[in-house]
Amino acid sequence: MKTVLTGIKPTGDVHLGNLLGAIRPAIEMSQSNDFDRSIYFIADAHALTSVRDPKLFKNYVYEIAATWLALGLDSRKSIFFKQSDVKEVFELTWLLNCMTPKGDMNRAHSYKDRVQKNNDEGRDADHGVNMGLYSYPILMSADILLYDTNFVPVGKDQIQHVEIARSIAQRCNEYYGAGTLIEPKEVIQESGSYVPGLDGRKMSKSYGNVISLWGTEKQLRKTIMKIKTDSSPPEAPKDPDKCIIMEMYRLFATSEQVSALEVRYREGIGWGHAKEALFEVVNDYLKTPREKFNHFMSHTHEIDQILEDGADRARMVAKDTMGRVRSRITGF
Ligand code: ADP
Ligand code: TRP
Repeated sequence: MKTVLTGIKPTGDVHLGNLLGAIRPAIEMSQSNDFDRSIYFIADAHALTSVRDPKLFKNYVYEIAATWLALGLDSRKSIFFKQSDVKEVFELTWLLNCMTPKGDMNRAHSYKDRVQKNNDEGRDADHGVNMGLYSYPILMSADILLYDTNFVPVGKDQIQHVEIARSIAQRCNEYYGAGTLIEPKEVIQESGSYVPGLDGRKMSKSYGNVISLWGTEKQLRKTIMKIKTDSSPPEAPKDPDKCIIMEMYRLFATSEQVSALEVRYREGIGWGHAKEALFEVVNDYLKTPREKFNHFMSHTHEIDQILEDGADRARMVAKDTMGRVRSRITGF
């Protein structure tokens, strides 16, 4: 039995970087027949390390669920659910907490980066760090290990977390016998794994340079028109290999479309026209998903139903694993 699993954090304002770096490759993977079981979940408990407004939180969960469904996740073929609906994950988290050296958490990148930033800015090292953030990798390990996962598709920033899950599993297997937990491997997503933002830096919510997936057509065009360009005149020939617009265009257009636009670049194209070409391909790509997304957001009870069905199926796997792990660790 080969299981692939990944979690998606609901943090609001899903953008083209999330789409190409995470969502599209994962959906393609779910449609392949390389695995016996594919599991996708909304990591809502992880989002609680930073989201403080319950209304906003709930909306983020719906938005991310609607996003995945609109972009083609088949909730019958995969198990699609909300992390916190399967309470076993919190029990496993505690057992794993007791098996994890504190030093491993001190060395986790996301925590270390925070400490570094605090030190640089002359604040207390742990300023703004709650225990949820500190032990984030343990909850993530529980997510992975609870479902006997073999493969975890993630971006580069998450590799260390999967390594932590593997090392916790190894430690448990040494103490409690082989097969207590399955040792997972990361699958690094390379394709489309870097999408530039409006200013040419990596597209990220934290840089405020994103192109959101789910605005209206009008908003999409308006955002694309904000992409930073130089002041070269329309008739000046332009290098298609040194341009953010072209870089994004390649991620959505067919190879014929790309060649045709490259010719226009070399002949000289006004930035407004280049942006319009980009808008056209992105908008074509998003047209149908946008309708589906809007449908789900105005029928959230359909999302509730899908997530409840998913949680029922996930719980069956979780109960099995917990039965095994609990009895090995506690004797009960
Ligand atoms: P943000 O940087 O906007 O906060 P997240 O960190 O929530 O985005 O990213 C969620 C997922 O989307 C991760 O798997 C991440 O690797 C992917 N991702 C985010 N930004 C980009 C980008 N610019 N290019 C490719 N993938 C991205
Ligand atoms: N930490 C991941 C992120 O920020 C989300 C996540 C939570 C996850 N649990 C997971 C990813 C388990 C893979 C497997 O993107």
